Amino acid sequence: MRKPFVAGNWKMNTTAASAECLAEALVQKIGHQEKVEVAVCPPFPYLFRVGAKLAGSRIALGAQNCHPDNRGAFTGEVSPMMLVDAGCKWVIVGHSERRHLLGEKDDFIHRKLVGALLANLHVILCVGETLDQRRSNQTEIVVETQLAGSLESISSDQLARVVIAYEPVWAIGTGQNATPDQAEKVHQFIRGWLDGQFGETCATTTRIVYGGSVNSGNAAGLLQQPNVDGALVGGASLNADEFAAIVNIAASVK
Ligand code: 13P
Repeated sequence: MRKPFVAGNWKMNTTAASAECLAEALVQKIGHQEKVEVAVCPPFPYLFRVGAKLAGSRIALGAQNCHPDNRGAFTGEVSPMMLVDAGCKWVIVGHSERRHLLGEKDDFIHRKLVGALLANLHVILCVGETLDQRRSNQTEIVVETQLAGSLESISSDQLARVVIAYEPVWAIGTGQNATPDQAEKVHQFIRGWLDGQFGETCATTTRIVYGGSVNSGNAAGLLQQPNVDGALVGGASLNADEFAAIVNIAASVK
């Protein structure tokens, strides 16, 4: 049985005050939800404030990125150890906005993933194809390359702390979500790939969540798919009612 996982990626949004308000509202609405594992990933400067609001609730704190190393001369970077120190359980790596807008490649993402796991963080690893890649039938090879590049040398024990987020680039922030069928097909492919690389136990226990224009209106259809184990939510996670609704839908359909 895979426990559904729903995470909110706040991206470069909120202010100190609005981040606190949002966290407070979420604690009130879904802070005791037991059927779904929930995390929110605010911007770095607000981690401590949001963490303080989440304290005592079941909602975990996550970060949106990290550097592979724990310390050193890396101006502007934040280390996995610092995230743990700030109260984070989760970190997102390989988000398409960092792959495509900031030029991050699989080997760098792999180093981050290893660094995060060594610091005892749990990792949300994002993969997904662009619209051109989908149109030229390259979805599977792109996703496979990203998975292979990022998960190289990872042990089964370490994989237990990884959630894979399938986020088709064309569905992110566009309002055009993948259909439940499109998402399910890629999730099935990812599970098959995990089976081949890590064996059946890992394949059946690893959670694969969908991200890309998820909202309270389309969440049920997506989450009803057998291989869609949750959601990584961007825009809709900035609205407490919307995000709480998605979490509650996950609790009721899974
Ligand atoms: P949207 O939900 O805004 O499309 O963003 C998805 C995403 O990128 C989550 O990481």
